[in-house]
Amino acid sequence: MIRKVETRDVNQVVAVHLSSFSGFFLSSLGPKFLALFYSGIISAPEGIAFVYQNEQGTPAGFVAGSSNPGGFYSRLLKQSWFKFAMAAVMPVLRKPSVILRVARAVFHPAANPVGRDVAGLFSIGVLPELQGSGAGKKLVQAFLDEVRRRGCKRVFLTTDCDHNDAVNAFYKKLGFSIERQFVTPEGRRMNEYWITLSEKNT
Ligand SMILES: CC(C)(COP(=O)(O)OP(=O)(O)OC[C@H]1O[C@@H](n2cnc3c(N)ncnc32)[C@H](O)[C@@H]1OP(=O)(O)O)[C@@H](O)C(=O)NCCC(=O)NCCS
Repeated sequence: MIRKVETRDVNQVVAVHLSSFSGFFLSSLGPKFLALFYSGIISAPEGIAFVYQNEQGTPAGFVAGSSNPGGFYSRLLKQSWFKFAMAAVMPVLRKPSVILRVARAVFHPAANPVGRDVAGLFSIGVLPELQGSGAGKKLVQAFLDEVRRRGCKRVFLTTDCDHNDAVNAFYKKLGFSIERQFVTPEGRRMNEYWITLSEKNT
């Protein structure tokens, strides 16, 4: 079953994030930072977030994004900067370079594509034991339905180009196409995918 994320789901969404994105930058910022991040998405009017519940009724997958992605991270961080700063203290002490990446999100808000009618899918994860069962596809479909309902026409997302064949195959299977490739300041090659909404990808 797919439903909107509620405040009571945030800790489980964080748990799913940590187990499906092991070794990724956001995960390295720790559960407190992630909880603020996902709470910020669900409380923002432009935020979009759904969970996939397993048979026990526990969230086992999630998708999150925004129907106004330009400057979204910057607005989120600025709005609760003190809480984010407190949550980042330990991760920054462990690895000081993470502060540069957080600062880039705040001071270079144009990093997300902007434009009318554009939505961004920022994060999707399914517990490893449920991957391949159709949960990810249902989550993307719920996300696209909501985006369409809000009047957006196009959706973008980014994912790693290298060592990421399964995820790239997943997005292509769902109708997304690569429109741009770029290299992050950390040297990661990224694919930027887009999909134009139509009746057929409902
Ligand atoms: C990416 C992810 C969300 C996909 O969710 P999922 O539940 O495993 O995917 P689904 O079972 O819904 O697959 C949907 C379709 O993609 C296809 N697909 C999925 N993995 C694939 C692979 N490795 N190779 C080819 N096709 C694949 C499936 O065959 C399926 O097609 P079908 O509907 O014709 O059967 C999930 O694997 C995940 O959480 N990965 C780790 C976190 C991550 O990297 N997230 C994305 C970051 S941008």
